[in-house]
Amino acid sequence: MSEQIPSYPACPFSGEPPPLPPGPVFRARLPGGDPVWVITGYDEVRTALNHPFLGRDLTTDDPHMGAEAAMAGALRDRTLLLDGPPHAQLRRLAGRPLTPVRVAELRPGIRRLADGLLDDMAEAGPPEDLLARLAFPLPLAVLCALLGVPERDGAAFRQWADRMTAIDAATRDETLAALHTMFTYLTERLEEKRTRPGQDLLSAWLAAQEEDDRLTDNEIVQLAFSVLFAGYESTAAAIGACVYGLLRHPEQLEALRASPELAPNAVRELMRTQLATPYYRVLRARRDFPLAGVTIERGDGVMPLTWAAQRDPGRFPSGDVLDIRRAGAGVADFVFGYGRHACLGAALATTMVEVAVATLVRRFPTLRPAVPLETLAWHTDRFPGGGLRELPVRW
Ligand code: HEM
Repeated sequence: MSEQIPSYPACPFSGEPPPLPPGPVFRARLPGGDPVWVITGYDEVRTALNHPFLGRDLTTDDPHMGAEAAMAGALRDRTLLLDGPPHAQLRRLAGRPLTPVRVAELRPGIRRLADGLLDDMAEAGPPEDLLARLAFPLPLAVLCALLGVPERDGAAFRQWADRMTAIDAATRDETLAALHTMFTYLTERLEEKRTRPGQDLLSAWLAAQEEDDRLTDNEIVQLAFSVLFAGYESTAAAIGACVYGLLRHPEQLEALRASPELAPNAVRELMRTQLATPYYRVLRARRDFPLAGVTIERGDGVMPLTWAAQRDPGRFPSGDVLDIRRAGAGVADFVFGYGRHACLGAALATTMVEVAVATLVRRFPTLRPAVPLETLAWHTDRFPGGGLRELPVRW
């Protein structure tokens, strides 16, 4: 291509939110070489995420897409990864056990788990790594219980997930091997549920039916995989990011401690400002159309940059500022995406993050960083990117 296109300024989040890129749109070349339109304006990102002429395309092989392109080849039947009526049907069936009402029933159990983990942390004594003590084990325990798989297999999940979220293109075979192992494992658990159903997602999905539509075994295994893959690290990263945000802004931590009822608003505001990932999924144009003042041509790639859009000053006044009292936090952000692929686990994820943060703040009134925050190391090798490597704390 003769067009001169600058490289995409990937800016992994490491503490301070990265500077806002130009808006509402700019052209850049991704690490894999593909040129894309990067959309940063709030209204334009909202339009792009649900645009009828923009859709998923898993045939491109951008290195930053990590395991996902590899996964596409392994999936059959309906899949959450693509668009269209099959995806919508699958979402309807799959989402039933994850509605806010169902999730509310899980809250007491999540509280008990968080308390148990923090009991252990208290007993071990400071300093302790908050990620290892709370942020990772809590979602893992919740998701294993929800799916109905033994928690002792959690360590294996963690390894498989690590393999699948690493970006390193040289490890593609390992990625596929991990994917295969995980599919085999989940298929075996599904067989067990068929003969001995329980109060869990695998059993609920086996029973799910709408008119004469049911989920196939392969779809259920794929959904279970999606829950672990989409729900585990993301929630762990969110808990880490929220606590980091509070430690970095002690006056906000103090405000939350003084007014614990702010927790739901606070975690949404913390996620909006602290969860910046350098990339978002690239969508492909199915035909020409105007967006953000440019003409997107058929075949063009479009990357809606949600972290930038949710700081767009036109929509979020002083959007760079973390304010846990910000009115209506979460009403309009893109923390859980938007439109036809919006997060299916948003209610559960929000509950886990909220319970983790609220319990921590309540139980450890003198919580503080054990090392200077500027010295913390961040992941730069994960899809979709970002996240702390550890978060040592004292109390
Ligand atoms: C704080 C934690 C989480 C965050 C920030 C998050 C964020 C997101 C986002 C932004 C998307 C949309 C991706 C896109 O547009 O391509 C998404 C999709 C999805 N998430 Fe989450 N998520 C979290 C936790 C969870 C949990 C706990 C589950 C499972 C219980 C889950 C299951 C899913 C699924 C299945 C999809 C795909 C939906 C579809 O394509 O139709 N997520 N998530």
